[in-house]
Amino acid sequence: MSPKGKDKSWQARMSVAQDELAINFVESLSYDTRLYKYDIAGSIAHAQMLTDQKLITKKELSEIKKGLTEISEQIDAGKFKFDIACEDIHMVIEAALIKKIGDAGRKLHTGRSRNDQVALDMRLWTRDEIDIMVTLLEDLQRALVKLAKDQGQVVMPGYTHLQRAQPILSGSYCMAYVEQFQRDKERFIDAAKRVNVSPIGSGALAGSSLPLDREKTASLLGFPAITRNSIDSISDRDFCLEFVFAASTAAMHLSRLAEDWIIYATQEFGFIKISDAYSTGSSMMPQKRNPDMLELIRGKCSSVYGNLMALMTMMKGIPAGYNRDMQEDKKQVFDAADTLRASLAMAAAIVSNTDFVPENISNGLEEGFLDATALAEYCVRKSVPFRQAHQIVGKLVALCDTKKCTLAQLSLDEMQTLCDKIDKDVYNSLSTANVVAGYNVAGSAGKKQLKQQIAFWDKIL
Ligand code: ARG
Repeated sequence: MSPKGKDKSWQARMSVAQDELAINFVESLSYDTRLYKYDIAGSIAHAQMLTDQKLITKKELSEIKKGLTEISEQIDAGKFKFDIACEDIHMVIEAALIKKIGDAGRKLHTGRSRNDQVALDMRLWTRDEIDIMVTLLEDLQRALVKLAKDQGQVVMPGYTHLQRAQPILSGSYCMAYVEQFQRDKERFIDAAKRVNVSPIGSGALAGSSLPLDREKTASLLGFPAITRNSIDSISDRDFCLEFVFAASTAAMHLSRLAEDWIIYATQEFGFIKISDAYSTGSSMMPQKRNPDMLELIRGKCSSVYGNLMALMTMMKGIPAGYNRDMQEDKKQVFDAADTLRASLAMAAAIVSNTDFVPENISNGLEEGFLDATALAEYCVRKSVPFRQAHQIVGKLVALCDTKKCTLAQLSLDEMQTLCDKIDKDVYNSLSTANVVAGYNVAGSAGKKQLKQQIAFWDKIL
C-alpha cells in the first residue's frame, strides 16, 4: 500500500489508502497533461460564473485566477511536479491550487465533477485541433495547386484498374487530390459544430441543485450553445469519434496519394522525381533512393484506423453515464491527431519538392491506346451509335495490336474499311495531346477545365 494513496481528494470515504499497483493502473496523467491549458481555462470560467452567482467571493475568484495562472506558467516552464497519485490533470491542478491558496482553492470544484470537466477539456482541445487540421490540409492543398500551376501541362496517362485508360493533364491529376483534401476539411469543420457545445454544469451526470449559470460559463469559453441533457453530456464521446473519423478519411487520402507517388517514383514509371531531402538510402545497396516518407504516410494511415476502431469498440458497451473506460478515449484521439499532423506536414513538404519528369511521362505515351475512347467519340460525332463505335474502335485496336502500331498510325483506308463515316479529320482526334485538347465537358481532365479549377482554388485558398 502506498502512502501516496492517502492524498486523494475522496480518501475520507475509504478505509485504506490506494494500492501502488492501482495508482499506476488508474492514472491518465501520463497522457492527459497536454490538456492543462484547457483545464485551467475551464476552471477560470467556472470560477467566474460561481462568483457571478454569489457562490464564491470576488476575493476568492482573484486568488483562484492568480493561483491557476501561476500553475499554468510553471507547467509552461517545465517546472511543475506532476504527482501520479493525483490520477489525472484535473486532480493534479486542483491539488496544486489548494496547496497554493488554501480554502479558496477548495471551493473551485463547487457544482462540478471531473466528468463534465473532462468532457469540457476534450471539447476545447478538439475545437483547437480542428483549426490546426484545417490549416495543415490547406497548406497541402496550396502545395498541390502550385504544382498544378507550375507543372500541370504535362500530358500523362490516366489509369483505371492501373491500366492505361485516357490521357489527362498532370495538373488535373493534382486537382483530384485538392478535392479530396477539401472534403476532409469540410468533414472537420462540420464536426466542429457538434464539438462546439458546452457540457460544463452537467456535474457527475444529473446537473446540480446549486444556481449555476451554464450559459455564462459557455459564453466565457466561446461556446455558442450548451448541451441539453446532463446525462448525455458526460457520457457522449461522439465528437471524439467524428474527429477521429475525419482524421481517418484524411489519412486514407494521404495514403492513396503516397501509393500513387511510390509507383510514379519507380524506375519503371519514372513519372516523378522526389527531392533527395525526402528520400532515404539503403544501408547495404549503395544505389538506392527509397520513398520511405511516402511509405510511412501510407503505413501510418493504418494506425489512425486503429484509433478509430479502438474508440468505436470502447464506446459500444458503456452503460449510460460516465464509466472509466472513457478515460482511454484520449489515447486514441491524441494519437490520431499526432499521426495525421505529422503525415499532413510531411506530404505538403514532399509535394512542394517533387517534379514531374515530362520526358519519362511522354516516353511511350502513345502506346496503350489512350486515344481509343476519343476515337469512339469522334465516330459518335459522325452519327455512329456509341455501341457500334465502341466495336469499330475495338477492332481497330486489335488491328493495331497485330500491326504493332498506334491508332494514329493507321491509314485512312484501314479505318474506313471498318467505318465509312471516318474522314481524314479523324487525325485531329487522335494522339494524346489532341485528346486532352478536345475535352469538352465541365470537370474534364483537359486544359480549359484545369484553368477553371485553378482559378476556383485560387479564390478559395
Ligand atoms: N481522468 C478521467 C478521464 O479522463 C477523468 C474523469 C474521472 N471521473 C471519474 N468519475 N472517475 O476520463
